[in-house]
Amino acid sequence: MASFSAMLTPARCSRLLSKQLPSSRRLASTQSLRETLKEVIPRKQEQLKKLKLEHSQAVVGEVKVEHILGGMRGLKAMLWEASVLDPNEGIRFHGLSIPDCQKVLPSAPGGKEMTAESMLWLLMTGQVPTVEQSRELSRELAEKGDLPAFVEELLDSLPANLHPMTQLGIGVAALNRDSKFQAAYEKGMKKSEYWTYTLEDCIDLVAKLPALAARIYRNVYKPGTDLAPIDKNLDLVGNYSNLLGFGNNQTLTEYLRLYIALHGDHEGGNASAHTSHLVGSTLSDPYLSYSAALYALAGPLHGLANQEVLRWQLAMQEEIGTNVSHDDIKAYLWRTLKGGQVVPGYGHGVLRKPDPRFIALQEFCQSIPELKQSSIIQLVNKTFEVAPDVLKEHGKTKNPYPNVDATSGCVLYHYGLTEFKYYTVIFGVSRALGAVTQLVWARALGLPIERPKSYSMDALEGLIKN
Ligand SMILES: CC(C)(COP(=O)(O)OP(=O)(O)OC[C@H]1O[C@@H](n2cnc3c(N)ncnc32)[C@H](O)[C@@H]1OP(=O)(O)O)[C@@H](O)C(=O)NCCC(=O)NCCS
Repeated sequence: MASFSAMLTPARCSRLLSKQLPSSRRLASTQSLRETLKEVIPRKQEQLKKLKLEHSQAVVGEVKVEHILGGMRGLKAMLWEASVLDPNEGIRFHGLSIPDCQKVLPSAPGGKEMTAESMLWLLMTGQVPTVEQSRELSRELAEKGDLPAFVEELLDSLPANLHPMTQLGIGVAALNRDSKFQAAYEKGMKKSEYWTYTLEDCIDLVAKLPALAARIYRNVYKPGTDLAPIDKNLDLVGNYSNLLGFGNNQTLTEYLRLYIALHGDHEGGNASAHTSHLVGSTLSDPYLSYSAALYALAGPLHGLANQEVLRWQLAMQEEIGTNVSHDDIKAYLWRTLKGGQVVPGYGHGVLRKPDPRFIALQEFCQSIPELKQSSIIQLVNKTFEVAPDVLKEHGKTKNPYPNVDATSGCVLYHYGLTEFKYYTVIFGVSRALGAVTQLVWARALGLPIERPKSYSMDALEGLIKN
């Protein structure tokens, strides 16, 4: 697991960059990610072996009753390779902060924002891909992006009033008919081969998410319209934007690239990532594991918050108007809190400062003049100027600052993607990047089935007495 002592310094950044395979050793598109992983995995296996042999009994924390009663908050109990979340600094992906990633990860042709492929590569391998490697991965994903006909038919048969997240989970689970891991398992593959078949499923899954998610959007919100074919020359998010019907809007497409890369991973303990890992630990294939994760993401305290934020901000706009004072917003915030509701988009299970993902999305908005003028974005900004103090005065939440969802939906809304029940589906396309990475690593490292110990309250009291 990346440690904070190993955070990115300019020297580490250039070390990461210099870890690239020499171009003479870079193979064809389907091989380069696999070849890189084949190099990296034995080193990590050795690291795990050493940790087990030399440090199995080392104590790194204690379990208190508050952990058992408090959703295991802060309990150090999981191995997760791709990213580590610091309460004050926010997320780092293999030691790289968000601004670092924005500097070093390749973008799509003509674009500036990092692509989902380059983030996936970084998460999987701990290395920064070259432009060429990232493009090769894009091509592979585009080639594998079409859905099996039966999944298209299944999605088309679902009622339009079934929540888009429920539909996404159904679609992802159905893809497991073609699971290469499951087929190889039935034939009796060796444990050392688990990760390779898992990787094949994970790449297929990531590749098919845009077509799956866009078909749901079309069926629910634009029935009767045509879906564009997948363009083999576009990156994953370029295709997703195209399929959604927003491909001509370069600003929105770039925003989606940033959004999807940033939401890709947020260490392992959050509900969706942990669900995917837990289900995967039973050797369920990646489709079933990620489908389960999507239903954790669909909860309003987790991924559904981005839909809730927009609903709440629009209700605020309707009630108090657009040309509002800080006092108007303050009064509205208090009405929300006194009504026994949470302020959506604020607070976090781990973070104790404004979420750097929120800051990155805000900076994107500030860099585009028309977004700076958007009434909904201005309202989000003004809310940010007031809400932390109100939440501090309210005195309950440990973190009065915005999380990424406080702003993530408003650019989508500004550009006409106004169906906010759909927003968590975009998050679902993104969160797969981190979840599939861990599924591959869990198999490569041979991590066991998860099985924590639970207690009843009587048993817990007995434990305390003794
Ligand atoms: C994210 C969240 C679920 C974290 O929960 P948590 O780790 O239990 O947070 P805390 O420990 O700070 O919660 C302590 C108390 O503050 C309250 N609180 C936390 N965030 C709050 C918010 N944004 N508005 C009002 N109250 C809040 C909690 O409901 C809890 O109240 P309780 O003691 O009556 O149960 C929580 O902050 C929340 O509900 N936020 C709004 C939803 C959201 O934006 N989710 C997206 C997360 S990325």
